[in-house]
Amino acid sequence: MTLKEVLTEYQNRVNDRLKQAIDNLPVVAPKLKEAMSYGTLLGGKRVRPFLVYATAKTVGADLSIADAPAVAIECVHAYSLIHDDLPAMDDDDLRRGHPTVHKKYGEATGVLSGDALQAFAFEVLARADFGQSMISNQLEMLRVLAVGSGYQGMCGGQELDIEAENRQVSQKELETVHQYKTGALIESAVDLGLLCTNHIDENTRKAFRTYSHCIGLAFQVWDDVLDIISDTETLGKPQGSDIDSNKSTYPKLMGLDKAREYAKSLAVTAVDALKPLPYDTSVLREFAMYIVERDH
Ligand code: IPE
Ligand code: IPE
Ligand code: MG
Ligand code: MG
Ligand code: MG
Repeated sequence: MTLKEVLTEYQNRVNDRLKQAIDNLPVVAPKLKEAMSYGTLLGGKRVRPFLVYATAKTVGADLSIADAPAVAIECVHAYSLIHDDLPAMDDDDLRRGHPTVHKKYGEATGVLSGDALQAFAFEVLARADFGQSMISNQLEMLRVLAVGSGYQGMCGGQELDIEAENRQVSQKELETVHQYKTGALIESAVDLGLLCTNHIDENTRKAFRTYSHCIGLAFQVWDDVLDIISDTETLGKPQGSDIDSNKSTYPKLMGLDKAREYAKSLAVTAVDALKPLPYDTSVLREFAMYIVERDH
């Protein structure tokens, strides 16, 4: 199977399960439920669920165990985007080719739909039945998702990102911002995939750690590059948003060409980390290159 086919397979798989999970929620507050659905189901590449599935598959785990963490991490990601677009943060009007959640449903519902999706992610993961032998893995999954999402992960990075607006930062500082705001959740996705089985040795874990660390940073460096070289229609979000908000980005720090090269070199390091492993890592290796070649 080509990477594109595998991507499509996992996108479809998680989309079905996401839709079912949200559709099955009782109607407590219909507008909130609609906003949660809108912010989650309408578009998106499903990169993080892909990483959960592809990692699980690579190490021989059962994909049915990967379903709950895949759904959960996409709910956290969708929430992070809804909040990222709010007027108090990046103040963007377009996401995944549609008006942002707060534009369509109002700011209060925007805030609450993000909150509710975050809580829902943990509900999904806690409710899953992986069997008795996987109980400690399931607990560890909850911890991994919490750490990647919160103060020590995405939220911490989002705060640093806002504080880095309108000023000059060093490469070291910017790497920290990117690692937390985007890298952390991508690292969590790979960790969740590994947690779908309990026979991972230390060498394998280390190699995957290097891989996820590098692609996590590369993902955000490339996102910064796309803000400049792509267009609003292709991106499905406003091109030039970083420039308008005077964000600290890699192209701003080192110039566009150097930023592109840097992203590619990170992807190559990620690929190299997986090469010695006794698994067929071809899909994950191709995916690392896709991250820095994608047009949106
Ligand atoms: C965008 O994430 C925000 C970042 C963390 C860079 P994605 O590029 O994964 O967005 P979707 O989910 O495909 O819309
Ligand atoms: C967002 O980074 C990272 C998140 C945690 C959502 P950006 O602000 O660059 O993401 P986009 O470009 O709006 O998707
Ligand atoms: Mg942002
Ligand atoms: Mg943004
Ligand atoms: Mg961006």
